[in-house]
Amino acid sequence: MRFADRLQKVETSAIRELFKLLGKPGIISFAGGFPDSAMFDVEGLREASARALGEEAGSALQYGATEGYDPLREQLAAFMQAKGADVAPAGLIVTTGSQQALDLLGKTMISPGDKVIVEGPTFLATIQCFRLYGAELVSAPIDAHGVQTDRLEALIAEHRPKFVYLIPTFGNPSGALLNLERRRKVLELAVKYQTLIVEDDPYGDLYFGEAPPPSLLALSKEVPGSRELLAHCGSMSKVLSPGLRVGWMIAPPALQANAVMCKQFSDAHTSTFAQATAAQYLKAGRMPATLAHVRKVYGQRAQAMGQALQRELGEAVSFTQPQGGLFFWARLTGAGGSTRDAGEFARRAIEQLVAFVPGAPFYATAPDASTLRLSFATADVARIEEGIQRLRNAL
Ligand SMILES: Cc1ncc(COP(=O)(O)O)c(C=O)c1O
Repeated sequence: MRFADRLQKVETSAIRELFKLLGKPGIISFAGGFPDSAMFDVEGLREASARALGEEAGSALQYGATEGYDPLREQLAAFMQAKGADVAPAGLIVTTGSQQALDLLGKTMISPGDKVIVEGPTFLATIQCFRLYGAELVSAPIDAHGVQTDRLEALIAEHRPKFVYLIPTFGNPSGALLNLERRRKVLELAVKYQTLIVEDDPYGDLYFGEAPPPSLLALSKEVPGSRELLAHCGSMSKVLSPGLRVGWMIAPPALQANAVMCKQFSDAHTSTFAQATAAQYLKAGRMPATLAHVRKVYGQRAQAMGQALQRELGEAVSFTQPQGGLFFWARLTGAGGSTRDAGEFARRAIEQLVAFVPGAPFYATAPDASTLRLSFATADVARIEEGIQRLRNAL
């Protein structure tokens, strides 16, 4: 086979190798990035899909518009408006998961050799996707308050990137939450340097206590000129169901039009049946209760994991308690002679029948081998406590 040159830019990740070991019987896994399937509102989705077939079978089972199914675009626009974003139904397109929105951004914006700034660390599939289109990725450092905007400005000035990709709210893998001051700064940088900002926001609704600051999209009305330089990706995956594959993108009109053109040649449109089901679900008003439920359960799990980490691993790890999302991001300190190599730690952990993901692959450049990501999403509190106890034996 003579494969395309672009495949040389990517490799299947080291994480995949680790996932092969997860089939071991008795293993407690904090490695995945999935929501808990026990949390899916099956009854609500059953009713929604029945209504989609009962009331609109002709369109729900037919080919549809590439931009998305209008009843869903209306519901999603209302969903976003309720969170302070000024969005009309025609101002968003439905995508097959937000992953497709990222792919469409790559396809429409990246020519080989273009610079793109991402956070260090960032979502692994984004790194791979943008590299497939030939991007040269530049990492902007983050801390618990998200991307460090002074460093980001210096990198924008130096590299003049095609765009900047951020996960400002409960990032994957970092769990970090960009604070309000930095959010404003990011939008000001967009205007100052006329640089497109991509806000990937699949976790913003998954907060445990106080609501996070407004999304960059919602905040853009306070920073003149920034809305025209902002693309926002949303998703039903983490709060409702990833199997639906319903995501969306809100972008400046010219970018949106090009993304629609590329989507035409890709999957023609996102499943109309999934879109009609999601629209019926939102229309039935079930989302607020679903959100309240997932926030509560994941919040309890996050708290249990934080306490267990402190109790069992003590000084050997440092971390910031996440205020939302699905992940803990931790650093091995080496205290008391414990290991500082998260890859080695992961191998030993598997022997103790507990799994997590080493952090290094989440860096586009300059990986930090002492970092790791633990998901608290899929194990209940008792399993979380048991799993973290096992981790102590792997130190
Ligand atoms: C930051 C981020 N963006 C996008 C996605 C893709 O989600 P989906 O395509 O299911 O909407 C994920 C999923 O893990 C993610 O963590």
